[in-house]
Amino acid sequence: MNSRLYWFLALTLTVTFSHAAEGDRWYSSEQVQSGAALFRENCAACHGQNAEATANWKQRDANGNFPPPPLNGSAHAWHHDLDLLRRTVREGGKSLGGLMPAFEERLDAEGIDSVIAFFQSKWPDDIYQKWAGNFATSDLPSLSDIVVAVNRPVTKLLEQRIGNTKIDDVSKTKIDDVWRVQIGNSYVYLLEGGKYALMGDLVNLETGYNLTEIARRSSVVAALSAFSDEDLVIFEPEGETRATLDVFTDTSCPYCQKLHSEIGELQAAGIRVRYLPYPRGGATGPGYQTLKSVWCAQDRNQAMTDAKNSRFDDLPAADCDRSATVDRGYRVGNRVGISGTPALFTSNGEKIEGYRPYQELIPFLLQ
Ligand code: HEC
Repeated sequence: MNSRLYWFLALTLTVTFSHAAEGDRWYSSEQVQSGAALFRENCAACHGQNAEATANWKQRDANGNFPPPPLNGSAHAWHHDLDLLRRTVREGGKSLGGLMPAFEERLDAEGIDSVIAFFQSKWPDDIYQKWAGNFATSDLPSLSDIVVAVNRPVTKLLEQRIGNTKIDDVSKTKIDDVWRVQIGNSYVYLLEGGKYALMGDLVNLETGYNLTEIARRSSVVAALSAFSDEDLVIFEPEGETRATLDVFTDTSCPYCQKLHSEIGELQAAGIRVRYLPYPRGGATGPGYQTLKSVWCAQDRNQAMTDAKNSRFDDLPAADCDRSATVDRGYRVGNRVGISGTPALFTSNGEKIEGYRPYQELIPFLLQ
């Protein structure tokens, strides 16, 4: 498994464990919470608000049926393992001659686990421990274990094909058995358990939304908003901010210089420009050292302007804490798929390739 995918999986697990387990129980408090609402809606009428009904649950009624038993640990729900509890809720009691309705049409697997979590949260510890002891619940996989287990075979063939390329994210789409895999700025859809890969944008024809572009933009927004204002060189607008523009820039690129010469017009129009460093050619590229000098300067805005006007003689030699941002900008720029500078992004993650004159840019950003 390539190491990036490993970390993705490891991280998924860590995140889940950190909010899992109330005491030593298999469910999370979130599951209990969402289960409470589902229980009230679907179960409480028969089993009671707190899963306490019916006190005389061992007594058949006039028709020879058992009343709904308490699920709060006082009856014998705890004699059933988790799978049987799930099946009872899913299929109801009809097949066994009982009265409990089936819920498979109304609750999905997650919902069923939540209602079970809710009524198990009413179980006293000693009952829960007995149940857990009987069925060794600690070995039950968590939901995220299952997701990971399902993901692995889905991406296996793809990983073999792409060799060392890093897979950034794998997620299920709303379409049956179709998975979306993110590799940098590209998306691939896997079909039939990962046997087939489809490359292209997924569009919902009912709504007209390009779902791939939505995913791409939201990943760009996440990557860019991870830079704090303190990390960047920001040219504030005159007056109120009407739009924000993120610009990957290299001081040595002529079109970056041209864009910068129009920064006054952008500021006057209410546009806030956030500069991110992107040394074309990486650490050996022409702008690398200068960008570091700019990022380390006392007055970064002035240094940016000086550098863009090829007056970088006075910039102090650069190595300060902030100069690491230059390397980070380069990495993130590559990740969001830029191929040159300037690369512009609107606040909703839409990419504008290359230089645009301010007369075009301003109406586009304000629309
Ligand atoms: C219409 C009434 C009714 C509703 C609604 C209902 N149940 Fe039941 N449930 C029963 C009855 C009656 C039984 C006893 C077995 C039978 O008759 O099927 C039962 C049995 C069970 C059992 C087995 C308990 C044991 O001790 O073996 C579980 C677990 C359970 N219900 C969970 C639920 C959950 C969770 C919901 C909501 C999603 C729910 N039930 C909704 C009537 C209901």
